[in-house]
Amino acid sequence: MVTRYKITTLTEFIIQRQSEYPHAKGALTRLLNDIATAAKIVNREINAAGLVDILGAAGQDNIQGEAQKKLDVFANEMFITALKGGGECCAIASEENEKVISFKNEFSELGKYVIAIDPLDGSSNIDANVSIGTIFSIYRRKSEHGGGTQEDLLQPGINLVAAGYIIYGSSTMLVYTTGKGVNGFTLDPSVGIFCLSHPDMKFPEKANIYSINEGNYIYFPDGVKKYIKHCQENDPESYRPYTSRYIGSLVSDFHRNLIKGGVFLYPGTAKNPNGKLRLLYECNPIAYIAEQAGGKASDGFRRILEIQPETLHQRSPFFTGPRWMVEKVEEYMREFSPEERKS
Ligand code: AHG
Ligand code: MN
Ligand code: MN
Repeated sequence: MVTRYKITTLTEFIIQRQSEYPHAKGALTRLLNDIATAAKIVNREINAAGLVDILGAAGQDNIQGEAQKKLDVFANEMFITALKGGGECCAIASEENEKVISFKNEFSELGKYVIAIDPLDGSSNIDANVSIGTIFSIYRRKSEHGGGTQEDLLQPGINLVAAGYIIYGSSTMLVYTTGKGVNGFTLDPSVGIFCLSHPDMKFPEKANIYSINEGNYIYFPDGVKKYIKHCQENDPESYRPYTSRYIGSLVSDFHRNLIKGGVFLYPGTAKNPNGKLRLLYECNPIAYIAEQAGGKASDGFRRILEIQPETLHQRSPFFTGPRWMVEKVEEYMREFSPEERKS
């Protein structure tokens, strides 16, 4: 007997989901498609990154026929162009731009949504051919007309309509949620289509990875130092000692932990009490996905999604992974670093 496989493409999947909302007009569907299209172009560029010098050395222009731009600038321009042209988004906050980019043409200012984006996450890893990503958050605008504003972007994560990431790894995947579970799509590079490969993603029951830049150990709060020791203790019942894995690209570290089971930690330090990661376009979208995958995301004391952002590029300590692992980190923070608690 011949086994028949039904391939579900990303476009089919989001249209099916849209039909569950009878009043939806397809704006979110189009927005997600715009993101997927930009991601494919960025993916192509990332895959060619190693060739640029070779072509350049031959005295030619690069593959775009222009001076090579840093990939994070290229990715930023690509997502902005796709989102502006698509017309569903009226403003963007990007890691690469100090201020909100407000779309003020007659077409896109009608867009109902605003987006916060880290166009290229883990960009210091590009030269080493290590996995990198893109992270995005989608909110409904609050303002009623005109171009979107900073206030439209300064919303807590609980207001998220959708969030996702693209991982440019040994294969390229788009993982997203609209609040009804998390689904992952792998890019088939031969036809340029994202196909559903990881339906309803959940953190596995068994989890034994911890991910943290341990080079910063001496600067960590006591709660984190003690938690690291906890990870290294022997207790087979709780899968300890855990194994340590750290790539240095949030998307890649989180994605591996989601698939294999592990906790990610980027704490504050005495020098940088809010850590490094940005609330709007790193912590919030990953937190939303983590919760939708049965996990948790915390700054050590508070649910990430409930933090009211005050500035676009605000940072936050970040702990995310399976619920029980994050709760253990919080236990250690409460006991050994209560002074880190924010008002
Ligand atoms: P970006 O490349 O967007 O600036 O983000 C880098 C971030 C994040 O991806 C990663 O988790 C973290 O930086 C790694 O920081 P350390 O090098 O301090 O560990
Ligand atoms: Mn980043
Ligand atoms: Mn970045």
